[in-house]
Amino acid sequence: MDAAHMGGDLEKVLITEEEIQRRLEELAAEIWAEYEGKDVLLVGVLKGAVMVIADLMRALPGTAPMDWMAVSSYGSGTKSSGVVRILKDLDTDITGRHVLIVEDIVDSGLTLSWIRSNLESRSPASVEICTLLRKPEAAKVDIDVRWVGFDIPNEFVVGYGLDYDEQYRNLRDVGTLAAHVYS
Ligand code: PRP
Repeated sequence: MDAAHMGGDLEKVLITEEEIQRRLEELAAEIWAEYEGKDVLLVGVLKGAVMVIADLMRALPGTAPMDWMAVSSYGSGTKSSGVVRILKDLDTDITGRHVLIVEDIVDSGLTLSWIRSNLESRSPASVEICTLLRKPEAAKVDIDVRWVGFDIPNEFVVGYGLDYDEQYRNLRDVGTLAAHVYS
């Protein structure tokens, strides 16, 4: 879906499809410089990371396997609790392997912080994080993110995997929604 297909639901495009693809090419080159010749596993976090992992992997100049986790906030139902429940775990044993977590967005950082500690407890060789988007103003925990596509303002964004009520993930760009969508 293009921005033109959003009708009045789109407020503005923040990052275009072309800008995303260009940045992912740069990140893929940096990531490959780090992991070439190493046993690296790309780990995507469902569902938002679907687009970014698909495009990032295809931009790598060599082969690497992927696996997926699905998580949900536990208890309060708000992401900000930082307590996460695993809905789908990795199929892969990561003992001794280099793990690269690929995310669409780091918002408060709580989800990633939990996932990282969880994976680190499984004795991998290393755990690093690559995210397409990061909201520095929303950070609630200090989290070391090795590769960041774009730092963005603290606004609710959709597109390129990111949803509002499960909609708009298939927008090619990243943008903000018009106020009427929320009411
Ligand atoms: C998003 C995103 C991260 C998390 C970031 O997932 O994919 O996993 O929120 O938020 P945080 O930094 O505040 O923890 P979401 O829970 O919306 O699920 P989805 O990927 O299925 O859309």
